[in-house]
Amino acid sequence: MKFVANFKTNHTRASTEAYIEKLNEYLEELAIDEVLIFPPATALQDGYKKVKVGAQNAYPALNGAYTGEIGLEQLNEFGINSILIGHSERRQILGESQEFIAKKFDFFKEQGFEIIYCIGEPLEVRQEGEEALFEYLFAQFEGIDVCYEKLTIAYEPIWAIGTGVSASVEDITLVHDGLKKEFNKPLLYGGSVKVNNIEEIAKIESVDGVLVGSASLNAKDFSELIKRGLLA
Ligand code: PGA
Repeated sequence: MKFVANFKTNHTRASTEAYIEKLNEYLEELAIDEVLIFPPATALQDGYKKVKVGAQNAYPALNGAYTGEIGLEQLNEFGINSILIGHSERRQILGESQEFIAKKFDFFKEQGFEIIYCIGEPLEVRQEGEEALFEYLFAQFEGIDVCYEKLTIAYEPIWAIGTGVSASVEDITLVHDGLKKEFNKPLLYGGSVKVNNIEEIAKIESVDGVLVGSASLNAKDFSELIKRGLLA
């Protein structure tokens, strides 16, 4: 079971350092090798012990004239070799197209990065039924090398992100089973994963891990979520 934390635009450099320290303490007695966290860009740093640090985003270039972005050079400074690509907030709020996302994927694949590739549908698509749902999800793999060995897929229904209401066990099972048939890759679920629903989610056979936003922000709470997930 893989546990991944997405801080989004939360935490500072100082609070991320303190978080890593604390999370390592809490993880000490747990049977887990590694937890991956994605802090904001200003908090990128070398992870240590059981906490690995990845980038929520970066521009597909070594360096150059991309105002407001960071590139490979800035990630290399901290030994970062994991990246989140395709998160719905970047697709929707930042307007990243599938074409650009695929370009980013290719660039970081060439660099040998571990890629957590996110897909997910809005509520209106989910309400259209199964066929529309899978058509929408599969379109998000356009231009993506799904055979890449360091690829992990994260299914995050947009209507479950940050809403406090996770997708149901039936919904998650339906999509994860469908994705597993197509892609032989580790598969995370994300969208309002919390301490009180991690057990039922972790028990689903086609769930290999979770991508956690709000419920990861406090190190103690996140460690409790990890503990329950491991025991499930
Ligand atoms: P959430 O976010 O856990 O706050 O719903 C998950 C995500 O967007 O990765």
